[in-house]
Amino acid sequence: MVDLSVDLKFLKLKNPILTASGTFGYGIEFLPFYDLSILGGVIVKGLFLNEKKGNPPPRLSETPSGLLNSIGLQGIGVKRFYEEVFPELKKFNTEILINVCGDIDEEYAEVVDFFKKEERISGFELNISCPNIKKDGMCPAMEPDWTYRVVKIVREVTEKPIITKLSPNAGDIKSVAISAEEAGSDGISLINTILGMAVDWKEKKSRLGSLFGGLSGPAIKPVALRMVYQVINAVQIPVIGIGGIFSGEDVMEFLCVGAKAVEIGTANLVDPYACKRIIDELKEICERNSVERIENFIGSFKSERID
Ligand SMILES: Cc1cc2nc3c(=O)[nH]c(=O)nc-3n(C[C@H](O)[C@H](O)[C@H](O)COP(=O)(O)O)c2cc1C
Repeated sequence: MVDLSVDLKFLKLKNPILTASGTFGYGIEFLPFYDLSILGGVIVKGLFLNEKKGNPPPRLSETPSGLLNSIGLQGIGVKRFYEEVFPELKKFNTEILINVCGDIDEEYAEVVDFFKKEERISGFELNISCPNIKKDGMCPAMEPDWTYRVVKIVREVTEKPIITKLSPNAGDIKSVAISAEEAGSDGISLINTILGMAVDWKEKKSRLGSLFGGLSGPAIKPVALRMVYQVINAVQIPVIGIGGIFSGEDVMEFLCVGAKAVEIGTANLVDPYACKRIIDELKEICERNSVERIENFIGSFKSERID
């Protein structure tokens, strides 16, 4: 029997599979497909303090190997989530993490403060990396100082674990990660989507209602792997890999370079059974390759960079 459990120091997971925020609804949308208790954890769709309408349609555009989205963080806000969704979600034996959003820095702390006494919430993932379309794609995770400020104000309101989610649109990903660690983050997750655009030349218009969007899916996996590797070598805190993970083999690549867990995103939109399938594939891969404890495989990468 393969042991898929992983220890993030601040949180133990039964397996390294988490759902990536925004691609798994609030969790309960996936109840018709499988028992959520099989998952390492559910990271819910990003929550602002209040309800949000999101960006104008169209909000999705498929590219040859990835998806562009400009959802704009539509959501029901903390109160409705807590009253309407959370009672259902907490019936499952899995970790529940809240993906936290904010229009202004203080809003991150207000969202965290709302949930901080709720025992079934295992921690918070700070989405400081969603490209803010109105600010031309800018977000706190693009700047080390801005990242430090947001993590610090959240750290002051909770003792629960904080994971800071980074943006591939940052100039220097390592400095941003170090800032998050110095401000008291317990972990880092990366990457969020890469700012992109799709054009309908006949209509002479963007294919998205809000001009730019975030690219996700297989196209971004090589970028994600490179950035995850760089960050793992820059910080002491655990790192969670995200980006284009569609199979058990993809998971092994991220664990090999040192990610302690991964998040499955766009794959859920292509195949609602993706997380279940990936967990099954992971077990098979470990069995076939005599990996008894997946934790022992993490960070087994051997190449070194030769400049
Ligand atoms: C439709 C959609 C909505 C998303 N919403 C959120 C969100 O609310 N919060 C967040 O931190 N990331 C959000 N993301 C980013 C994903 O969590 C993930 O970081 C990204 O898609 C890369 O992973 P993937 O290639 O496996 O999809 C969203 C992505 C997509 C495609």
